[in-house]
Amino acid sequence: MSISLRPVTAENWRALIKLKVREDQSHFVASNLYSIAQAQFGFDDEGHWDLFPFGAYDGEKPVGFLMYCFNFNHSRYQAFILRLMVDEKFQGKGYGREIMTLTLGRFRADERIKSVGISYEPENEGARKLYASLGFVEPGELLEGETLAVLNLR
Ligand SMILES: CC(C)(COP(=O)(O)OP(=O)(O)OC[C@H]1O[C@@H](n2cnc3c(N)ncnc32)[C@H](O)[C@@H]1OP(=O)(O)O)[C@@H](O)C(=O)NCCC(=O)NCCS
Repeated sequence: MSISLRPVTAENWRALIKLKVREDQSHFVASNLYSIAQAQFGFDDEGHWDLFPFGAYDGEKPVGFLMYCFNFNHSRYQAFILRLMVDEKFQGKGYGREIMTLTLGRFRADERIKSVGISYEPENEGARKLYASLGFVEPGELLEGETLAVLNLR
């Protein structure tokens, strides 16, 4: 398996919006179409967060989607992983872990990023286990109804 992250472009967005999670997982993550729309605007919290959406590819095959955002002036976390999904056909094969490992490697290489935030529905045990195994710790707070977890990189 060799996972790569490719920015969403005019060429690949149609293939990426076809990726879907299982019906019973649909409340865990927004659709990729929604995320790509959201990425155009960013949002404000202690300054502006810019959003970066990516397709996750195994070779030439799109298998998942990731979106993170940066605000290097934020006091608590300077990178936030807003979206992660692996298409239902490709789950349980290690892609989710590989996408996260690749992403955290990028963040570790950037000195402006001291901590990374992520959030998930409280009942999303799969996501919680994956992030905990990568070092994310729950401070015991909710962020817009989701469980917050933070990874300190430096
Ligand atoms: C969460 C998700 C991205 C994981 O991707 P994946 O490719 O299936 O995950 P992997 O095969 O890399 O498994 C990684 C770890 O996730 C955990 N995990 C994944 N799905 C799980 C499940 N249904 N139950 C328990 N643990 C699970 C395991 O701890 C696994 O650990 P291991 O590597 O020691 O086996 C994927 O299941 C998904 O898209 N889910 C629906 C959307 C979602 O919940 N996104 C996260 C929103 S915050």
